[in-house]
Amino acid sequence: MPASQSDTPYLDALRAFAERNPARLHVPGHKGGAGADPRLIDAVGERALALDIPALMWGIDAGVEPTPFGEAQRLAAEAWGARRTWFLVNGASQGNHVAMLTLAHGGDRVVLQRNAHSSTVDALVLSGLRPTFAAPELDPELHIAHCLRPETLDRALAETPGAVGAAVVSPTYFGAVGDVAALAEVAHGHGVPLIVDEAWGAHLAFSDELPAHALSLGADLVISSTHKIVGSLTQSAMVHLGDGDLIDEEVVDRCVTLVESTSPNSLLGASLDSARRAAAVDGRALLDKSLRGLVHTRAAVREVLGLDVLDERLVGAAGVFAYDPLRLTIDVRGTLTSGYELARLLRDQDVHVELAGENVMVAVFGMGEDTAMAGERLVAALHRAVESVSVQERDPEPEAFAPPPPWGELAMTPREAFLGRQEVVPVREAIGRVAAESLAAYPPGIPNVLPGERLTSETLDYIQQAIDHGGSLRGASDRALRTLRVVAEA
Ligand SMILES: Cc1ncc(COP(=O)(O)O)c(C=O)c1O
Repeated sequence: MPASQSDTPYLDALRAFAERNPARLHVPGHKGGAGADPRLIDAVGERALALDIPALMWGIDAGVEPTPFGEAQRLAAEAWGARRTWFLVNGASQGNHVAMLTLAHGGDRVVLQRNAHSSTVDALVLSGLRPTFAAPELDPELHIAHCLRPETLDRALAETPGAVGAAVVSPTYFGAVGDVAALAEVAHGHGVPLIVDEAWGAHLAFSDELPAHALSLGADLVISSTHKIVGSLTQSAMVHLGDGDLIDEEVVDRCVTLVESTSPNSLLGASLDSARRAAAVDGRALLDKSLRGLVHTRAAVREVLGLDVLDERLVGAAGVFAYDPLRLTIDVRGTLTSGYELARLLRDQDVHVELAGENVMVAVFGMGEDTAMAGERLVAALHRAVESVSVQERDPEPEAFAPPPPWGELAMTPREAFLGRQEVVPVREAIGRVAAESLAAYPPGIPNVLPGERLTSETLDYIQQAIDHGGSLRGASDRALRTLRVVAEA
C-alpha cells in the first residue's frame, strides 16, 4: 500500500536500519556514533548519530522502487500540490541554483526581480545567464522593497527577447506577498515559466487563513526554504515543480544532482519527511495556534511607545497583494532610533530577531510555535529596550528618501565578471569600470551594483551618501567603500 500523509517512510527506514544495528562497513567514519567524539554524543545524543546514514543504502534510497526516500519526496509533492518535489540539503540557495541552471538549458537570457536573494545572483554566475532586472516596488515610508508588479514583469519580458524564464520573490522577508497569479499569467503570456522564490512561504499551503501559495497560483517552479518556518532542520529545503509543461522534469533532476553533495545528510532529509507530515496532517491546527498567539503579540507590540507593526493594512500598497500574518515586522520609526539599535538592545537581553533594518525589525515565528509565549518575551524586552533608548539617535525629521539611481549598463554577464581577471581600485577610479562584486546600500537593500555592471558616479555617490547617513553596505569586499573590485582592463 502506498504511504499516506500520516507516514514518514524515509524517517522510518532510517530508524529501522539503526535499530537493527547492522555492520556499518561504510561512511561516515563515526559508524553511527561508535567513532564519534564523546562530546558530540553528549551534545546531540546517540540517536542522532545512529540515524546519520549515507546515501545509496539498500531499502532506504536504493533498491526496490519506490524506495522510502522516493516515497517521502512523492508525499511532499502531494502535500504541496507539485508534479514532483526534490529534497535539498543546501537550502533554498540550492533551489535558486537549480532554477537558474534549469533555465539555462533553454537559452541565455532571463528576467529577474532586482532584489532576488544573493543565491540567485550566485546562480547567474553558475549558469552564465544574462539577466534583465525588474525593479520591485519601494515603500517610500518604510524604505523597504515589496514585490514585483505584473506590469513591471511584463515590461521587462517585452524588453528581453529570447528570455527563457522569469524569477520573482514572494513573500518578502517583511511578509509582503506578490500577485503570483497575475505574474504567472504575464510570464506564460510571454511563453516562459515563472520561478517563484517562496523561501519564506513553505507554510502557505497549509491554511486557508494565509495567502495562497505560489504553486496553486500557476508558478512553474517554486523554491521553498522548508526550514525557515515549517520546522525541518537548518539547510533542508525543497524545490517543487508545477503542473505546466514549460519546465522539463528531467532537466530539473540533473540540475539538482549537479549542485548537490554525493553525501546528502540523512538527518536533513528525515527532517523534511517529518516536517511534511506535520504540515500535511496537523498544519492547519498548528498554524491556527501560531496565528492566534500572534494576534495578541501584534496588539501588544503596538502598545509599546513608538512601535507599530506591519499587517493587512499594507495590502494594496504597490507590490503588496497580500500579507503573511506569520511574520512580525515591527515598524520602529516612532521610537526615533533605528532597528539596528533596538535589535542590539534586545540582544543585550538575550532576545534575538531575524533581521534588523533602519526602520523595521523582523521577528520570525514557526508553524506550531507557542507564539503567545515567545511574543510575551519579545514584548517585555521591547518595552525595556525602548525605555532605555537614551538620546535621539536619529534626526527626527530625516531627509526625504531618495530612491536609488538606475543601475548601470550590463557590460558582461555576471559569470564573465566574476570569473574574469580582476583588480582592486580606489573608488573614484572605479567610475566607468565593470564591477566584479555586488553592492547593496541598506536601506532599502536592493542591489545598486551587480557583477558585470558598469559603475556610475551617480550610483557610487548614492551609496556613499547612504553610508554617511548611517546606512550600511552589503556585498562589498570593502564595506567602507574606499576601494572596489572591478574587472581588469585588457
Ligand atoms: C528570498 C530568499 N531566498 C532564498 C534564501 C536562501 O535560503 P537558505 O538559507 O535556505 O539557503 C533566502 C534566505 O534567507 C531568502 O530570503
